[in-house]
Amino acid sequence: MRAYQIVAGSNSLDGLRRVEVTDPVPTATQILVRMRAASLNYRDLMIARGHYSGGPVGANTTALSDGAGEVVSVGAAVTRFRVGDRVAGTFFRNWADGQPPARPLVALGAPPADGVLAEYAAFDEEDAVALPAHLSFEGAATLPCAAVTAWHGLVENGRVTPGESVLLIGTGGVSMFALQFARLAGARALIISSSDEKLARARAQGADGCINYKATPEWEHEVLRLTQGRGVDHVIEVGGAGTLGRSMASVAVGGRIALIGVLTGFANLVSPYPLLGKQASVKGVFVGSRGHFERMNAALGAAQLEPVIDRVFGFDETVAAYRHLESGAHYGKVVIRI
Ligand SMILES: NC(=O)c1ccc[n+]([C@@H]2O[C@H](COP(=O)([O-])OP(=O)(O)OC[C@H]3O[C@@H](n4cnc5c(N)ncnc54)[C@H](OP(=O)(O)O)[C@@H]3O)[C@@H](O)[C@H]2O)c1
Repeated sequence: MRAYQIVAGSNSLDGLRRVEVTDPVPTATQILVRMRAASLNYRDLMIARGHYSGGPVGANTTALSDGAGEVVSVGAAVTRFRVGDRVAGTFFRNWADGQPPARPLVALGAPPADGVLAEYAAFDEEDAVALPAHLSFEGAATLPCAAVTAWHGLVENGRVTPGESVLLIGTGGVSMFALQFARLAGARALIISSSDEKLARARAQGADGCINYKATPEWEHEVLRLTQGRGVDHVIEVGGAGTLGRSMASVAVGGRIALIGVLTGFANLVSPYPLLGKQASVKGVFVGSRGHFERMNAALGAAQLEPVIDRVFGFDETVAAYRHLESGAHYGKVVIRI
């Protein structure tokens, strides 16, 4: 079958290779899926660049964690799925629900787990979910990492309620899902972006407060102004060390910061003490469980919510898709049709 792999030792997008590999053979508890679409996350750039946890990949690894397709065969012991079902694999293997397991979590697309940018992928039946019926394969392929992370951080951990305010950082995959979930919950969304054009699109999608962080580098003052000095109830913190201090300045008394991203790196960490007087909290979010994914899919289905897709690339345009994500020109998700 055709696949794209990140080659062992890769430290740039040049490590992304189109290859021919043998088709996976499902075990008794696995389903074999004809993948139809996959999507990119910022993590996939980090993996190709050799910056993902633990450094460069040590073995050739099929790329990308997020994809959707249809079941073409099932192992003898499979009970959850049938041939013809439309499914997506979960980002993590072996986290059905509840608290994360104590053992290290294994995620697709980085050793030891191959990803989904291939014609076929085998998933344990416990590591797959049914797709919301209204979504195309391209739409569903955007869900496993970015959407589940936003859902977990804002809805299940954050318990966002109507009338609360939510701050979103940038207009990438996680932030666009968080904008949609904030709106769905009846919350007020504020968003920062490098681009006025992207902010205009976010406003059209329901963002109430829009701040250009290039024009207004000290954007926390504007967040406070837009919230009458109160600050926001939730921050979906995807920016990392370079934005965390401003996020802490932006959060309201009793507010919650979902610590998610590392776009500006991990170094130069700021003091957490601004949180003390506000009695605000920071909680780490690491994608989520199959339960998060399934509950989110139910909500997506009920609201007929469509993921924000920036662009769909062909399979042979995979390198261009990575370069597009790297450019930062995207708004929402970048998808590859398989
Ligand atoms: N913890 C987890 O489980 C988890 C899950 C998913 C993602 N993440 C992390 O979350 C982050 C976002 O991931 P993603 O896949 O959504 O990324 P993405 O789709 O590539 O979006 C990145 C966007 O963030 C904005 N941005 C970049 N630098 C910024 C800065 N200095 N200040 C403010 N905004 C900035 C830009 O938006 P504009 O062009 O609008 O400025 C950029 O397009 C990454 O660090 C990723 O590793 C973590």
